[in-house]
Amino acid sequence: MTTANAIRVLSGIQPTGDIHLGNYLGALKLWVDSQYDAESFYCVVDLHSLTVEFDRDNLARRTLDAVCMLLAVGLDPKHCAIFVQSHIDQHTGLEWLLECVATFGELNRMTQFKDKGAGQESVTVGLFTYPVLMAADILLYDADKVPIGDDQRQHLELARRIASRFNTRFGETFTVPEALIPPVGARVMDLQHPENKMSKSSDSRLGTIFLLDSPDEVTNKLKRSVTDSENTVHYDPERKPGVSNLLEILSAITAERSDVLALRYDSYRRLKQDVAEAIVDTIDPIARRFRELSSDTAYVMDVINEGDERAREIASATLARARESIGLLQR
Ligand code: TYM
Repeated sequence: MTTANAIRVLSGIQPTGDIHLGNYLGALKLWVDSQYDAESFYCVVDLHSLTVEFDRDNLARRTLDAVCMLLAVGLDPKHCAIFVQSHIDQHTGLEWLLECVATFGELNRMTQFKDKGAGQESVTVGLFTYPVLMAADILLYDADKVPIGDDQRQHLELARRIASRFNTRFGETFTVPEALIPPVGARVMDLQHPENKMSKSSDSRLGTIFLLDSPDEVTNKLKRSVTDSENTVHYDPERKPGVSNLLEILSAITAERSDVLALRYDSYRRLKQDVAEAIVDTIDPIARRFRELSSDTAYVMDVINEGDERAREIASATLARARESIGLLQR
């Protein structure tokens, strides 16, 4: 793992549902790359997953599965720390201090809160303060860069604002983090509803490619993916969201430009076949590694314990600094 004067990277993923292609292309791929040239911390944010309805009996298993998936996509514990958010008490400790700096109005403007809360009979306070816990996750580690997909941009902006305000009011305490958003794949769209982002909780499983989908499932989902009636392949996200999403997925996997890829296709059928093949080649080895790792709980727990220990050391120093800055009586 890189240390002396290296930049520090931190990011997180919720252990809700199965990890999908959007998570991989929008975030996890960058996590894997970052571990080699930055001091990297990645956490499974199990506390965040309590903000909406969750299944108590499967929570611990899902957290372990998420860690297995992080290892399966290529995170290497020799190059990064992988830890579990709820194991590090300092996250909630710092959250309170930040909640006394963030404002109600700021949180009320968060679009994810509005989206997730819409239509619910009752909304938890945790869903409202969710972005402050996320700010605590980031600021505790003095992260310089935070690799995330486009949907987390607003939360990261809030974390920056809270950090700057805290520093101005109480003296330099936190590093103000920057988002690291991939140029392609930052917003992978649903295959059935290409106007919505691909998500774990989509109404139709046909719209989301999960990293554990079989080759047949991938091929079937691609065959049935929604395009338009023109049958001409161009990259034009406004007018042709379905086709452009397929091109963008292919672009994120092959590192070729979407508009250049478009020139190679004269039918949607061929494009869909190639995208399915590229996805299968990417996720099949991941699914195989996941299956091996998920039967080795002892190893996965060792990875977590080691990651927790490294995270705790940094988090406790930062929280002590923040408590001192804000003027609390030292213990
Ligand atoms: P989560 O668990 O929803 O998603 C994990 C990562 O995947 C990205 N992502 C996508 N990227 C491209 N296209 C999509 N369709 C897509 N769907 C999801 C997300 O942007 C994210 O980077 N609030 C965060 C978790 C979090 C966090 C943090 C992240 C908690 N604390 C601290 C960074 C730093 C979330 O719910 O991500």
